[in-house]
Amino acid sequence: MERHRKLAAGNWKMNGLSDHLGEIAALIGSHGDATCEILICPPATLVAPMAAHAGSRIAVGGQDCHAEANGAHTGDISAEMLRDAGATYVITGHSERRADHGESDEAVRAKTEAGWKAGLVVILCIGETLDQREAGETLSVIDGQLAGSVPEGATGDNLVIAYEPVWAIGTGKVPSVEQIAEVHDHIRKTLSERFGTGTADAVRLLYGGSVKPGNASEIFAVDNVDGALVGGASLKADDFGGIISALEG
Ligand code: 13P
Repeated sequence: MERHRKLAAGNWKMNGLSDHLGEIAALIGSHGDATCEILICPPATLVAPMAAHAGSRIAVGGQDCHAEANGAHTGDISAEMLRDAGATYVITGHSERRADHGESDEAVRAKTEAGWKAGLVVILCIGETLDQREAGETLSVIDGQLAGSVPEGATGDNLVIAYEPVWAIGTGKVPSVEQIAEVHDHIRKTLSERFGTGTADAVRLLYGGSVKPGNASEIFAVDNVDGALVGGASLKADDFGGIISALEG
């Protein structure tokens, strides 16, 4: 299976009101014909208006979904609802969800299956804390998260893995290129042992954590890095545009 186009994904987290949609218009103006795929995951309130604004140039995704399609779950949103609002992607297992909402690997797995059932491509996030890295546990943490949260049935069409070291998120600290390479190589190898080389090669592996226009080229030059999941720097079209340009090479 052939690998898909490289992916520049923005995660707006809990940021953005409707007047922020102007950033999408600016991004389409500057990078609408980019050769890589561009995705923005805005807060749920902006999924439908952003999908209407973005047309076919920029994909839109949710930041989380419930494991069930509907039911008595006040405040939650289902993958089916995201799809209905115009999303084609959903993020699962972000470390902020794992930390703030106690999401286990098992819960992330169920949400990922729900995303697939609704026809969404899932960006599943994994990554170690600083304590785990300093204890030399990075690869075993990654192994545990992959085994626990990636369901059977993964393909290059339905799954993207984002490696986001928790200590690099929003901190301005970025792992060395050697550290990124070690983890991304390990993820590819682990996927290949479980799903076969063809599938493992087709699944895109994103790096996330303090990616900025100034460090993006160096990160994208690392083997097995197929794009980025960007938080803060995805909020402004200028910054995100710089990262997209770096990904295009
Ligand atoms: P920052 O790019 O703000 O560090 O956030 C990364 C992230 O968590 C993306 O999901």
